[in-house]
Amino acid sequence: MKFRKIGVLTSGGDAPGMNASIRAVVRTALDNGIEVLGVVGGYRGLIDDNVRKLTSRDVSGVIALGGTFLLTDRCDEFKTPEGMAKALETCRKHEIDAIVAIGGDGTFRGATDLTNHGIPTIGVTGTIDNDITATDYTVGFDTAMNTVTGIIDCLRDTGESHARCMVTEVMGRHCGEIALYTAIASGAVAVAIPEIEFDVDACVKRIAELRAAGKRNFQVIVSEGVGGYHSHFGEELAKIIEERTGVESRFNCLGHIVRGGQPTLRDRLAASCMGSMAVELLLQDKSNLVVCELNSELVPVDINYSFAIDRMYKNKLKDGDLDAYTEEQIAEMRDFCARKSAHIKELYSLVEELAK
Ligand code: F6P
Repeated sequence: MKFRKIGVLTSGGDAPGMNASIRAVVRTALDNGIEVLGVVGGYRGLIDDNVRKLTSRDVSGVIALGGTFLLTDRCDEFKTPEGMAKALETCRKHEIDAIVAIGGDGTFRGATDLTNHGIPTIGVTGTIDNDITATDYTVGFDTAMNTVTGIIDCLRDTGESHARCMVTEVMGRHCGEIALYTAIASGAVAVAIPEIEFDVDACVKRIAELRAAGKRNFQVIVSEGVGGYHSHFGEELAKIIEERTGVESRFNCLGHIVRGGQPTLRDRLAASCMGSMAVELLLQDKSNLVVCELNSELVPVDINYSFAIDRMYKNKLKDGDLDAYTEEQIAEMRDFCARKSAHIKELYSLVEELAK
């Protein structure tokens, strides 16, 4: 099929690097003689008929900007038949032949729905959480981790001056990767992530022993999903550490700070390559794919497969989830999930090993 016009949108939580993806989509499409309409405010823009033509000049300079200049939304109405009908009407009215949807898990659900309703769609990752199992990397992850690491460096200064323990909560939803990677990079004494049960006693013992040996500052990083999303387990942990070790402790919740800022080189690069590949896939008549990075290579992965492997990894498989796959494919999926879990466990042990 020869596409004449495609739409591009960003949806869900914003992520540094989304603008670089939009830029790559726009310029690759224009190079191939395809017009691009920017959908404003994610799927909400499709429902409200809020679209605008994007030229090469419209994306000048955006590569260096955090957030998303196309704006974003978490749009529940899009999940309803009425919302979908309005979105399809907008596509018909503007003759949008296909869509590139940039975001996370929720965005790709919307992308699949659109594909099923006759609008071919390709997904490009854009979420700080790195919580899409099918890909090693999601755009925004590196910038978020660098932001956290910079802040922990600041907290170390004051922790050292006062001989304190700083417990810091970071975003990640149900995925502990931001916390885990930054714990290693910032020399934390402990990390708590939803994937692995946290041993409070061991953490307290380690801090008490290290304090007795002369260590003055203690960084503990807690992923927001530990103990239940939004439960702020880190706040409770800071109190426990202070009570049981005598080391004065402070809790900081970094919240949305971690989602902003200039994208790093890593994110600009991944975003540019992924955005460009999304358009190339459409040109090859492909759809319902998400552009993934696996072992440093870009690989298109079927969105339904990405949902299935995600549920497998999170032990949330439902009846019928694997019906579409052969025994061999299922074995490969299990293997992939096992390797991912083992890697997370290895990194978790490394935090403890290096906490001296
Ligand atoms: O998915 C990205 C993310 O920033 C998560 O890390 C976080 O839990 C969530 O979005 C916060 O969502 P909101 O901005 O809607 O509060």
